[in-house]
Amino acid sequence: MSPGTQGVMFLLAFMLSWVISICAHNSEVHVRLENRLKSKVYLSPKITQFPGSVSNKTYYDIKFPKGHIAVKSFNAEVVDEAGDPVSLQETYVHHWFAVRYYQNKVSKDIIIAGNSGLCDHGRSQLFGMGSETRKTSTYVPDPYGIEVGNLLKVPAGYEEKWMFNVHAIDTRGAVDAIGCNECRCNLYNVTVDKDGRPLRPNYVGGLYCCYDGTQCKVKNGVRNVSRNVYLKYTVKWVDWSDSIVPVKVFIFDVTDTWQHTGIHKCLFEYDVKKSTTGVATNNYTSSRRSSVSFPTAGDVVYGFAQQYIGGTGASLYGEDGRVICSSKPIYGKGNDVGDEAGYIVGMSTCYPKPGSVKIAKGETVTLESNYSSKKMHTGVLGLFYLLVAESS
Ligand SMILES: *[C@@H]1O[C@H](CO)[C@@H](O)[C@H](O)[C@H]1NC(C)=O
Ligand SMILES: *[C@@H]1O[C@H](CO)[C@@H](O)[C@H](O)[C@H]1NC(C)=O
Ligand SMILES: *[C@@H]1O[C@H](CO)[C@@H](O)[C@H](O)[C@H]1NC(C)=O
Ligand SMILES: *[C@@H]1O[C@H](CO)[C@@H](O)[C@H](O)[C@H]1NC(C)=O
Ligand SMILES: *[C@@H]1O[C@H](CO)[C@@H](O)[C@H](O)[C@H]1NC(C)=O
Repeated sequence: MSPGTQGVMFLLAFMLSWVISICAHNSEVHVRLENRLKSKVYLSPKITQFPGSVSNKTYYDIKFPKGHIAVKSFNAEVVDEAGDPVSLQETYVHHWFAVRYYQNKVSKDIIIAGNSGLCDHGRSQLFGMGSETRKTSTYVPDPYGIEVGNLLKVPAGYEEKWMFNVHAIDTRGAVDAIGCNECRCNLYNVTVDKDGRPLRPNYVGGLYCCYDGTQCKVKNGVRNVSRNVYLKYTVKWVDWSDSIVPVKVFIFDVTDTWQHTGIHKCLFEYDVKKSTTGVATNNYTSSRRSSVSFPTAGDVVYGFAQQYIGGTGASLYGEDGRVICSSKPIYGKGNDVGDEAGYIVGMSTCYPKPGSVKIAKGETVTLESNYSSKKMHTGVLGLFYLLVAESS
């Protein structure tokens, strides 16, 4: 087909769609408008930082689209006062997450409206990521959506609200930026946790050493200039309708002790030791696994893993060993924002053909999280987010 013919065909197709939309009944036009993808950009409250400073704050009643809707995507990134994206080399987004809750209109009591599991305490977010937030797709494909704002599900006397936790580490002028990001206790000169309890012996790094208000070591002579940053988040949604198939959010944690104790207890973080045999075997893979019994039957719609620096990929396996979803980190290669060398700037995602990947109720699902053991890594994470449409 010549470019000229292509152009005519395109024009014809365009005119045809125009005629169809004019001929459509009013009600159809109405439905189409109702289901139009909407999008809104919000800013978190201001986060003030100094070279080496750590901010880990929870913000209540954050802005979120109102009404009974299906969330189709939720993306975020850190920006400065001018609205320009901030490099991970300067502000490391350790993690952020958004939790839905119901608040009593009178007593102000809060009920967490968590996800569908699988950790018993914590990990109750519907959305959350870390440094990979810029290049990880979060789109929920049609006909699926994450249902929120359904008044019928809000307890009487309560209203639905959202809270945000943002953990950001400022590494401008840091002696060892990656060490700050891995929360090495020696760089923070920390000996007690955020509640003043002494750290366990041999605890060398992790979230007990980089809590809100701690200070990572910076080079001598670095000027102490403050900077305000914001977490900018973009929510895309459609108004709720019967044609949308709701999906449940599950979060697997590789530190979950369920397989040993029968109870979901997530330890949240673990360490990767530097390999002592790697040189001889040329194998620098540290692999950790945990299994859980999946509580419901359904179709996998979307999934991705969350890992920290050093991560080399994670997979979810079914009881028969089949791969449910596999996700690999994308490491940056340069100095541009979104491509910061040595940082995880994205995670690959799974979008199985609808109905092609199923999990049975009670099926044992195993999460495997791999890290490179060329170096030691402290306070690492092995999480897997999975959206599942329940089958009746
Ligand atoms: C580290 O903390 C101790 C007290 O906990 C303090 O005496 C010392 O000055 C701190 N060192 C640095 C380099 O800040
Ligand atoms: C950050 O704050 C959240 C929410 O309060 C808390 O669960 C988490 O343990 C904190 N992390 C650190 C590293 O202090
Ligand atoms: C930088 O200044 C802030 C605000 O005055 C202060 O809280 C912080 O401790 C200072 N940081 C250093 C490394 O001195
Ligand atoms: C590499 O070593 C890890 C940990 O020792 C082990 O689990 C894994 O099977 C090894 N991989 C290969 C390809 O030999
Ligand atoms: C993790 O490492 C093991 C052992 O080397 C390998 O068999 C497996 O395929 C790896 N899994 C992922 C998700 O990379």
